[in-house]
Amino acid sequence: MLLLDEAAPWHADGHWQRMDAATAAIDGPFAALSLEALAHNARSMVARSAGTTLRVATKSVRSRAVLDAVLRLPGFAGALAATLPEGLWLSETVDDVLVGYPTVDRAALRALAGDERALSRVTLMVDSLEHLDVVDDAAPGHPPIRVALELDASFRLWPVRAGVRRSPLREPERLRALAEAVVARPGFTLVGLMAYEAQVAGVQDARRRGLAPPVVLRTMQRLSVAELRERRGAAVGAVREVAALEFVNGGGTGSIELTAADPSVTEIGAGSGLFGPHLFDGYRRFSPAPALAFALPVVRRPGRGCVTLLGGGWIASGPPGPDREPIVAWPEGLRIDPQEGAGEVQTPVLGAAADRLALGDRVWMRHAKSGELCERTDVLHVVAGDQVVESVPTYRGEGRKLL
Ligand SMILES: Cc1ncc(COP(=O)(O)O)c(C=O)c1O
Repeated sequence: MLLLDEAAPWHADGHWQRMDAATAAIDGPFAALSLEALAHNARSMVARSAGTTLRVATKSVRSRAVLDAVLRLPGFAGALAATLPEGLWLSETVDDVLVGYPTVDRAALRALAGDERALSRVTLMVDSLEHLDVVDDAAPGHPPIRVALELDASFRLWPVRAGVRRSPLREPERLRALAEAVVARPGFTLVGLMAYEAQVAGVQDARRRGLAPPVVLRTMQRLSVAELRERRGAAVGAVREVAALEFVNGGGTGSIELTAADPSVTEIGAGSGLFGPHLFDGYRRFSPAPALAFALPVVRRPGRGCVTLLGGGWIASGPPGPDREPIVAWPEGLRIDPQEGAGEVQTPVLGAAADRLALGDRVWMRHAKSGELCERTDVLHVVAGDQVVESVPTYRGEGRKLL
């Protein structure tokens, strides 16, 4: 069992050397998780949340052992799952699972309807009557199912539109109207509300990204936080007149302190800050430790200043671009050959440090995103101090997957 509250403090100095020495006996490719860095990141997220509960975004973790370890820490409670099959599975041990994205999975809905424990633990996300119809069609006459409504938290100031395209519910009155319809409909209990400000939580503000220079981006984020505070507050007030809400969820790793400052929010959904992938290196307000990484063995030497690694093409989701590739974390001074990129079977890396590497030596890489790496590997080797203390399964290692 991973005990994060007993983990030693994390030190950046010598981190990669410790990870490499601890895993020397393991043949790559493999993924390794630093217990100290994970605990460091979890503590930092709790400190940033200033007393607002953190609900763990499981897509960014994808390992039950890690999820359970984080949920044992004060400051974290409940899972924000991605799919209903995942949510049902997690509800065997987690007593509060919000499936944060609508489901149309009929078999899973039937399973939910027939499982008393899951009915008390799992909450579905809906944003229209159509979602309720899907549930009724899949499991006619079902017992009361917990549902939450999602407010569109994107930022719009013509011609700017920033954030994710999810819920059509933008105005507080529309949210209230759907809340009334849900409350009036047999078979549903309205328990929560969610509004995820992706344009603040998921967009790095410290360095130039894509088209917008930081100053434009930061202005948009400032305006968005102010606009959402008003609108989310009004929406929560309107829905609370209709139903007694157990929770109002907002935010993500990148916005923890900003979302926590919104008085209408009762909890923050966050996960990426735990593993600290490289797309979270560019925020001004925090800087996670690189807790999760993967090691690829050197398998050949095409020439001076270059070695080729086995595997590596573990590209992250989102708009395709160089930032979705893994980056070389260690040894320093190596980079992926931009002409070839991270490959399906092999990845050439360039730099003077390549000439000091022997066949079989490992190069440490960091994934761009947090949980996707777990779809590529059965286990995470957990390093504490200078040894592997446990090897815990990912979802995949338990014969599961997220998506
Ligand atoms: C609904 C929701 N909440 C919160 C998050 C934040 O997750 P993370 O902290 O892993 O960025 C996401 C990420 O996509 C999300 O979709």
